[in-house]
Amino acid sequence: MNKKINTIAVLGGGTMGRGIAGLCAQSNKKVLLLDISLDEAEKSLEEIINGHPPAVDEPNKASNITLGTFSNDLAKISECDWVCEAVTEDLNIKRDLFEMLEPFRKEGSVVSTNTSGIPLKEISEGMPNRLSRDIVVTHFFNPVKIMRLMELVPGENTDPEVVKRLADFCSGVLGKGVVHAKDTVNFIGNRIGCFWMLMGLHKANKALDKGISMETIDALMSKPVGLPPTGLYGLIDLIGLDVMDLVGKNLAVNLPAGDLGLSYTDFPANIQTMLKRGQIGRKAGGGFYRMIKLQDGAKAIEAFDLKVGEWRKSEKVVLDDKHSGLDVLFLDDIDGRFSWDIMSSVLCYAAELVPEISDDIVNIDRAMRWGFAWAKGPFELIDEIGSDRIIDRLLSEERPIPKMLQTLLDSGSSKFYVEDGTKYLGINGRYYQTPEE
Ligand SMILES: NC(=O)c1ccc[n+]([C@@H]2O[C@H](COP(=O)([O-])OP(=O)(O)OC[C@H]3O[C@@H](n4cnc5c(N)ncnc54)[C@H](O)[C@@H]3O)[C@@H](O)[C@H]2O)c1
Repeated sequence: MNKKINTIAVLGGGTMGRGIAGLCAQSNKKVLLLDISLDEAEKSLEEIINGHPPAVDEPNKASNITLGTFSNDLAKISECDWVCEAVTEDLNIKRDLFEMLEPFRKEGSVVSTNTSGIPLKEISEGMPNRLSRDIVVTHFFNPVKIMRLMELVPGENTDPEVVKRLADFCSGVLGKGVVHAKDTVNFIGNRIGCFWMLMGLHKANKALDKGISMETIDALMSKPVGLPPTGLYGLIDLIGLDVMDLVGKNLAVNLPAGDLGLSYTDFPANIQTMLKRGQIGRKAGGGFYRMIKLQDGAKAIEAFDLKVGEWRKSEKVVLDDKHSGLDVLFLDDIDGRFSWDIMSSVLCYAAELVPEISDDIVNIDRAMRWGFAWAKGPFELIDEIGSDRIIDRLLSEERPIPKMLQTLLDSGSSKFYVEDGTKYLGINGRYYQTPEE
């Protein structure tokens, strides 16, 4: 088997396909980019060179890309070492394409699908043994060039050698941060990140009733706890309520029974109303916030007051020192109680999901740092806050201790990472060498 990946077929030149094709071309690899029509493929190449941002850093690298269509050029994948499918998120479209391409694929090539939510077992069910052996999910994040995270998910029958080849290529050649995930709904980053957002909307709604403002919620859910400056509402505005609604519907169907996320798959009523009238976020001119032009031509930000259902001037929130760091979680005021409520919930959720979604805590921490721009992953954050403080508080609130926190307690240690992060706590309560990033 030729172990090197030098030629890549990217199937579908949409948002993700052109990102992946551009990254491979920029890395001096030959790319065959196929789409439903030559028109689509050409549009894709134009975006790769001149998009915002372009997918290649140097326009001349796009000459590594050859265009074609599924109907005329699929046989050319016989020259490719990696066949990377990036077509519409539709089970039947993906399965039809795999059935069509499998006879042309050369022995020893690897295959991947870029689904964000369809289980690999459904995509590969009933497919030839050779395909089940050679296929993985490569879950890149958008924009591919910028986002470091790539979740690699093998199926039940995937050859470990295939996983290793793609992990080596995506980290060594494409420069991605590869995280090993399992074939479970939303994999790692989106499972935890979307729980934080959907659960967050419900908890934030209750906090609004108690008098906290949306801007304060976003200020608390950013720098003080090591999350990006968009906060909660700002991040959802960026993603779009329409996308989050689809995520929620997918979770409602695919989360395992008993999963805490099942309580939060629908938006609160006031936010469902926003979705219904198309107030879905930045791409639609506004969601929770919007930018307006004043009479003198200056721009101003408005917030959609969820309590009264009207736009108002957005207030700038400056947190005092007490509320600007992790200690906010333990303050006995409305801001502190809200911050603890949402952050303890997401940390406990993550700590309950090992080994369901990942064999270890390291892949979870990296997924949240590389895919959601958290300064620290959940277990790193627990270490920084102090596991004993968290456990004491959970016990005092008569809440259950999640699996990995219980493992930590039983191990007699108080840190998930020891020896400057070079060792991490495994699910059996023993410490292991942390793999290099
Ligand atoms: N956009 C994201 O942020 C993101 C992130 C991670 C994963 N994904 C996943 O990546 C995959 C591609 O998503 P995208 O955002 O690039 O989609 P997109 O809509 O931008 O592109 C879809 C591509 O599929 C092609 N296509 C449409 N109908 C087809 C058909 N019937 N047969 C074959 N090809 C067809 C289109 O021509 C286009 O090239 C999806 O599975 C998606 O869930 C998307």
